[in-house]
Amino acid sequence: MKKLNMDTPKRSIRNITVGERVKIYDFVNLYDCTIGSGSKIGTFVEIQKAAVIGKNCKISSHSFICEGVHIGDGVFIGHHVAFINDKYPRAVNPDGSLQTDKDWKMQRTIVHDRAAIGTGAIILCGISIGENALIGAGSVVTKDVPPNTIVAGNPAKFIRKINEKININGHFKNSIS
Ligand SMILES: CC(C)(COP(=O)(O)OP(=O)(O)OC[C@H]1O[C@@H](n2cnc3c(N)ncnc32)[C@H](O)[C@@H]1OP(=O)(O)O)[C@@H](O)C(=O)NCCC(=O)NCCS
Repeated sequence: MKKLNMDTPKRSIRNITVGERVKIYDFVNLYDCTIGSGSKIGTFVEIQKAAVIGKNCKISSHSFICEGVHIGDGVFIGHHVAFINDKYPRAVNPDGSLQTDKDWKMQRTIVHDRAAIGTGAIILCGISIGENALIGAGSVVTKDVPPNTIVAGNPAKFIRKINEKININGHFKNSIS
């Protein structure tokens, strides 16, 4: 792992830790986060401080990965996916002063290995998405998702289990029931 900084008109990358063969596209805002070897970060992605992306992940364009999010290995994040780390957000305190980091409680979310999150999904905070789970496009995930499970909708509900994992040319294909 090495440190990477790049402040150009096309990329704002500040003090991130990256593994080997990480591919980062233009127009990103990445700071104080970790990105594992082989992962790809699409255009217009923001990854905040202390977020962790594992190895061989695909983070598609326009997604937002906030502080407190830990993404495992081989995870697919679709376009426009948003994570949340503050369940009761406020701009100001009761006295009208602007809130700072001390005024709210961060809630962590973990996405386990080989899970996939469909386009436009919103993942509420304090959530665990199980290994090899699949989140439908446009879902709002409000609860933990067990491993090998497909959920979809708002709020996301159980669709079906994924029974089998077959490794074809390095890609996991899901046999579903
Ligand atoms: C969730 C998903 C995996 C389900 O696929 P599937 O197992 O083949 O399910 P089906 O298409 O048979 O649909 C099963 C039911 O779930 C519903 N459903 C499917 N996807 C849904 C979604 N994203 N949101 C809400 N409901 C959904 C269907 O309407 C159907 O409902 P019904 O039983 O009442 O008719 C798939 O629809 C999906 O959203 N994949 C994500 C794709 C994506 O975002 N790719 C990103 C890169 S392009």
